[in-house]
Amino acid sequence: MFIYYNVYMSAGSAYPVEDYLNLSVTELDERIAKARKSLDGRLLILGHHYQQDDIIKFADFRGDSLKLSQQAAKSTREFIVFCGVHFMAETADIVTADWQKVMLPDLTAGCSMADMADLYRVQKAWKEITNIAGEENVVPVTYINSSADLKAFCGKKGGAICTSSSAEKIVRWALGEHKKVFFFPDEHLGRNSAIKTGIPEDEIIVWRRDTHLGGNDEAGINKARVILWDGFCSVHMLFLPKHIEYFRERYPGINIIVHPECRREVVELSDLCGSTEYIINTVKAAPSGTTWAIGTEINLVNRLRKEQPDKTIFFLSTTVCLCSTMYRIDPQHLCWILENLVQGSVVNQIIVPEEEKKWAKIALERMLAL
Ligand code: 13P
Ligand code: SF4
Repeated sequence: MFIYYNVYMSAGSAYPVEDYLNLSVTELDERIAKARKSLDGRLLILGHHYQQDDIIKFADFRGDSLKLSQQAAKSTREFIVFCGVHFMAETADIVTADWQKVMLPDLTAGCSMADMADLYRVQKAWKEITNIAGEENVVPVTYINSSADLKAFCGKKGGAICTSSSAEKIVRWALGEHKKVFFFPDEHLGRNSAIKTGIPEDEIIVWRRDTHLGGNDEAGINKARVILWDGFCSVHMLFLPKHIEYFRERYPGINIIVHPECRREVVELSDLCGSTEYIINTVKAAPSGTTWAIGTEINLVNRLRKEQPDKTIFFLSTTVCLCSTMYRIDPQHLCWILENLVQGSVVNQIIVPEEEKKWAKIALERMLAL
């Protein structure tokens, strides 16, 4: 699949990233702190909750996708270094002013789920669905984990963007406005949100990429209220019902909390479900002495365990669920990007083309207005 990365590399980029790869952690820490200090007042470092501790300690703000995009929108800093993945940096570029520059320390930090839906396939599916159901009866909703051109597509077609914390609200809005919702790219977030709004399972269908009518027939498409793209997060797929059964058996009274990218069976067996920010806030607010098993990325869980020593916190799966693309943002790349900024070179800038930006912003504003 072709992924378009917008890169602006200043001709005078003095420091190649290779120079940083073998530096010691202590040296990197000192150099990052020094560069950050000399960019004081001009720089904002945003860190997603899945980032490793060695990055989070330098973040001005940490948060989930929604909170970080709001922080970017509010910021008046010239440089925004996004320690997260590609779609997050794109979203930050969409909501910031033209004179602000958004950078991603490693351009290979993508999101495999976001890559499962591309504009060509989504447009083709849209045509097939609307030929049957009528364009006026369908509204597209894209999870923020998607490329900017898909966000722009939703803006043009009267749809919206959602995050894991706003998905239920957006699906409810879309169902109220229209008869059907076409939701991409995450099948599981789409299903979990639709069920929360009261849509029965037999009115939810899956659109399987590269199959005729997404593997459905006309009657199925006509009956469906919600049509889900078949994308998924490989990290959250590793949480299974048997893990919940294991913890419930051994630790009676345990609280199970998971991210809505988990499959339906897992969400159904859990006590609570919500965004990364929701998970953190819920566990932090819980009484001392309580026991938790958490179904989301391991860096978040390990950090929460350290920060909340008065609670017993388990990681829900037997397999280490690490988001390997988030992990690509390391101190080496952060130091490289900051020292280049200090000497006037902007590297790894993320630039969303103007036309895409305009329409994506409309879809994003629909979400924020709700
Ligand atoms: P949040 O918006 O909940 O942080 O989720 C982002 C994400 O990519 C989860 O896998
Ligand atoms: Fe994408 Fe999954 Fe990583 Fe989140 S955890 S950024 S959905 S691959």
